[in-house]
Amino acid sequence: MTTYANLLTNLDADGILTITLNRPQALNALNVATVEELADVVRAATADAAVRALLLTGSGPKAFVAGADIAEFSQLDAATGRTFAGRGQEVFALLENCPKPTLAAVNGFALGGGCELAMACHLRVAADSARFGQPEVNLGIIPGYGGTQRLTQLVGKGRALEVMLTADMVNAPDALRYGLVNHVVPAEQLLEFSTSLLKKILTKAPLAVRYVIESVNAVFDEKRDGYTVEADSFAACCASEDFREGPKAFLEKRPAQFTGK
Ligand code: COA
Repeated sequence: MTTYANLLTNLDADGILTITLNRPQALNALNVATVEELADVVRAATADAAVRALLLTGSGPKAFVAGADIAEFSQLDAATGRTFAGRGQEVFALLENCPKPTLAAVNGFALGGGCELAMACHLRVAADSARFGQPEVNLGIIPGYGGTQRLTQLVGKGRALEVMLTADMVNAPDALRYGLVNHVVPAEQLLEFSTSLLKKILTKAPLAVRYVIESVNAVFDEKRDGYTVEADSFAACCASEDFREGPKAFLEKRPAQFTGK
């Protein structure tokens, strides 16, 4: 696997690739180089059969990702700002549309681009110490890596507007109440819990997992009809070897042995 300047990667025996954002001196803030490294690692992981799930987390106890790198983006103008947001959206869409499950294990501050990164993953588990927020209005900008869209999808319009308009941080219990995260766990159990959640998904039929992700994403894609995507996906599952195995294993009262074919 490639070595990165700003990311640590580790592939475990179950096929879970842990990607650790690793710029602790800047609370793991996302500079352009890190966004490009993310694009590279997600693309490579999607293509690599040995990788079955992706887990994103931040280096150190304090931050998941404290936002886009403020020092770096402070010189943007209209033209470069458009490119900056467009590219970030493109890269985060790779995570959202990854056919393998992606999970953000949020170990601390998830602000701005950090909150947006977590929201681009399929699942979010927060340490009880985690804090979320979209504080861009403090800087005279708005979320540009998909945050206005995904926060609204996850928590609804009223709460999303309050979070983005006030720039207030949301603590872990409130994030759970809002539906921004799936689970809150003690910080010391974050990785173990997150891994066990992914491992549970990895016992399921991989093609079915992939098609659930694709069909749910279609809800938010105005260019696609979600019901058509669902029916097509259902049909594809029915043609799979795993669909021969799943019902057979049930009737034989044994765990299914899925192959992803
Ligand atoms: N971009 C660049 N550098 C950042 C950063 C960011 N988004 N967030 C934190 N850092 C850097 C700080 O500049 C500081 O660097 P220094 O030690 O060289 O001075 C270092 O990380 C530690 O941050 P610091 O602010 O000293 O920690 P803190 O515990 O006092 O505060 C935060 C933590 C997260 C509340 C604060 O860092 C913060 O508000 N960060 C910006 C959040 C933000 O607006 N993100 C959205 C950007 S669109």
